[in-house]
Amino acid sequence: MPKITYHHADGNQDVLDVPGGSTVMRSAVSNGVRGIVGECGGQAMCATCHVYVHTPYLDRLPEISEDEEEMLECAAAERDESRSRLGCRLTVGDELPEIEIDVPKAQV
Ligand code: FES
Repeated sequence: MPKITYHHADGNQDVLDVPGGSTVMRSAVSNGVRGIVGECGGQAMCATCHVYVHTPYLDRLPEISEDEEEMLECAAAERDESRSRLGCRLTVGDELPEIEIDVPKAQV
């Protein structure tokens, strides 16, 4: 089962084993992981699922689409040009069996 690790600014972390095909945003919201809101339900229209991806996983992610690019510019927390992504665009599964992300201090 794919694994997602959410690192929080206070040093705590949430580790979830989730079904393949799950997104970082949906998994967080469904399991009560704090700090990820997912206001638009995964339509790339809110940026409240902004996350910072740990470096070892970056080259396994899909390209950033134009929609995602625009939304990242609106994120409440500062964008990290190399590590910021929308959690609703990140799907775990065969291609990405594991991912670790930092949860921003603010989403709204
Ligand atoms: S949930 Fe709204 S942009 Fe990801």
